[in-house]
Amino acid sequence: MNILLTGGAGFIGSTLAEQLLSAGHRVVCLDNLDPYYDPRLKRENLRQALAHPAFRFQEGDIRDRELLAALFSENAFDAVIHLAARAGVRPSVQDPALYYDVNVNGTLALLQAMQQAGVTKMVFASSSSVYGDSARIPFDETDPVDKPLSPYAASKRAAELLCHTFHHLYGFDIFCLRFFTVYGPRQRPEMAISHFTDQILHGRPINVFGDGSTARDYTYIDDIVSGIRKSLESLNGYEILNIGGSDPISLTGLIRVIEQTVGREALIHRLPMQPGDVQRTYATIDKARQITGYEPSVRIEEGIRRFVEWFQEGKPEQLGV
Ligand SMILES: NC(=O)c1ccc[n+]([C@@H]2O[C@H](COP(=O)([O-])OP(=O)(O)OC[C@H]3O[C@@H](n4cnc5c(N)ncnc54)[C@H](O)[C@@H]3O)[C@@H](O)[C@H]2O)c1
Repeated sequence: MNILLTGGAGFIGSTLAEQLLSAGHRVVCLDNLDPYYDPRLKRENLRQALAHPAFRFQEGDIRDRELLAALFSENAFDAVIHLAARAGVRPSVQDPALYYDVNVNGTLALLQAMQQAGVTKMVFASSSSVYGDSARIPFDETDPVDKPLSPYAASKRAAELLCHTFHHLYGFDIFCLRFFTVYGPRQRPEMAISHFTDQILHGRPINVFGDGSTARDYTYIDDIVSGIRKSLESLNGYEILNIGGSDPISLTGLIRVIEQTVGREALIHRLPMQPGDVQRTYATIDKARQITGYEPSVRIEEGIRRFVEWFQEGKPEQLGV
């Protein structure tokens, strides 16, 4: 397939790009190397893919409609995998307008460019945050999602709704994948596992928000990439699918796993819960299993081991980040 991958220089996108290329697909990556975290890390993420003849990197913004029109006219794309976004719950509370602009208007610009070019297949990266503090555990795709707790969550839900509109009006096949906290090599540096590992290895205190009882359904990067690829192969109609590990762990439990993996104890600096954070996430994955054959396989202990190994090879540190 000839694929347009937005956000392909990021954590999930760059890992996905390498696997798509290995499977024989052609990939055009559109990414503006947004400064949310150090763009040197994104350039490093792209290094392997850039060496592949079936990969092309286009630096640019998904909100740039002229650029989108040119990309679609130059390439006969079979499908779009749309990962570009301002990610992160807490910073969205500080700058809601930017999050809305990139995540909602950017998605709309992309959908319109697809419609004009006659490209009708998309896999879209949504988020478990749309569930808010859902009363029902585990989270099911049929649960109400009309009480988002952060601008980020609201922007992802709004983009899911736009995707439905384009399915309805123009017959697009779109799967909106609700990813549950993704971790592994190349993880964004501000995310908890990266921050904790870095601090613990350096003997510095870690910031722990709340009493440690919050829980997350951490999902290893390879399982997420497999969920995206299986969705691409199964695209038909409009579907919302949870892509999670379906095996949550508390914050205290997570810290313990990292401590055991790095062989050092954490110094804990306890802080109040942050606005926008949810108490827990937990995915049911029966629907994704049934429609795509998705099956997560990496448990947290193994995933953390692989992450720490990558981290200790010094990738971020080599860049002075
Ligand atoms: N990592 C997670 O735990 C997680 C969980 C749920 C959903 N998601 C979603 O998955 C997707 C990928 O997340 P990630 O963790 O790889 O984040 P990331 O920040 O590493 O990747 C996002 C990429 O999008 C690019 N980008 C941002 N704004 C852009 C714009 N206007 N135009 C073009 N490119 C732009 C960034 O430069 C970055 O390379 C995002 O949509 C995110 O919201 C991630």
